[in-house]
Amino acid sequence: MMVSERPMTPLEPNTQLKYPSLVKETHDALSALLFPNLPGCAGRTELMARLLGTGISEAMHVLNGLHAAIGDAGDVCEFGVAQGATSALLANEIRATGKHLWLYDSFSGLPKPSPKDQLKDDIFGLGSIDKYEGEMRCDAMEVQMRLAAIGFPAERCHLRAGLVHESLQEGTGPAEVCFAYVDFDFYEPIAHALAYLDRHLSPHGRIVVDDYDFFSTGAKTAVDEFVQHHPGRYELSMPQTFAGKFCLLRRKSVNLMGT
Ligand SMILES: C[S@@+](CC[C@H](N)C(=O)[O-])C[C@H]1O[C@@H](n2cnc3c(N)ncnc32)[C@H](O)[C@@H]1O
Repeated sequence: MMVSERPMTPLEPNTQLKYPSLVKETHDALSALLFPNLPGCAGRTELMARLLGTGISEAMHVLNGLHAAIGDAGDVCEFGVAQGATSALLANEIRATGKHLWLYDSFSGLPKPSPKDQLKDDIFGLGSIDKYEGEMRCDAMEVQMRLAAIGFPAERCHLRAGLVHESLQEGTGPAEVCFAYVDFDFYEPIAHALAYLDRHLSPHGRIVVDDYDFFSTGAKTAVDEFVQHHPGRYELSMPQTFAGKFCLLRRKSVNLMGT
């Protein structure tokens, strides 16, 4: 979530479009300089110009992680989708594969923060972390409209509304995941998603967690605890400073010891 970009209210039409030629120029420059293995994809830069809470550089890292893992079996997830602008970007990239897209959001905004969520960056200027409960509320219909607009097959999209502790459970979630974008902001939902992913991530699976060391302290704490609890299983790396506040997790190998 970028500081200046408070999400629109559910009834506000999405008329925002970042300067499209600048987005394309940035995309092409980052592709050439940082992501030479990233394949092209029709419609990508148009969808990047419609992103709301995800910057262009972060989106490029997300796409790079997705394509690094796309050869593995497994589906793609976004945890915390809001209006679905990033969901549409992901959907467009996997349209030609048989992969399914799993989308999780309360659609009632941020939950009550836990004690592990301390306010680090007051992104909306509310004064305390408790005041963020209910913020970022969006309408699931907007997500469906964005996916329909790009023709993503409805039977390959699983939109799960509700608090993730209830909506993401064994037996009803994706059996295998090759890539996940985790963007819940707070400690408990991020920890829950990461624990699920650890049981279902493919051998070369990748995860991007947004807002690492930004906004609430909970995202960084959840990631750091996750990596510490699975020694040797994940490589944690940070992007270039200009790219934004998020982190990259790469599964290193299957750990037969089950630690
Ligand atoms: C920063 S927004 C996601 C932005 C989106 N990924 C994008 O790129 O446009 C965070 C979202 O997480 C959702 N969320 C936070 N905690 C949740 C929880 N415990 N269960 C379900 N959804 C949650 C909020 O409703 C909100 O829409």
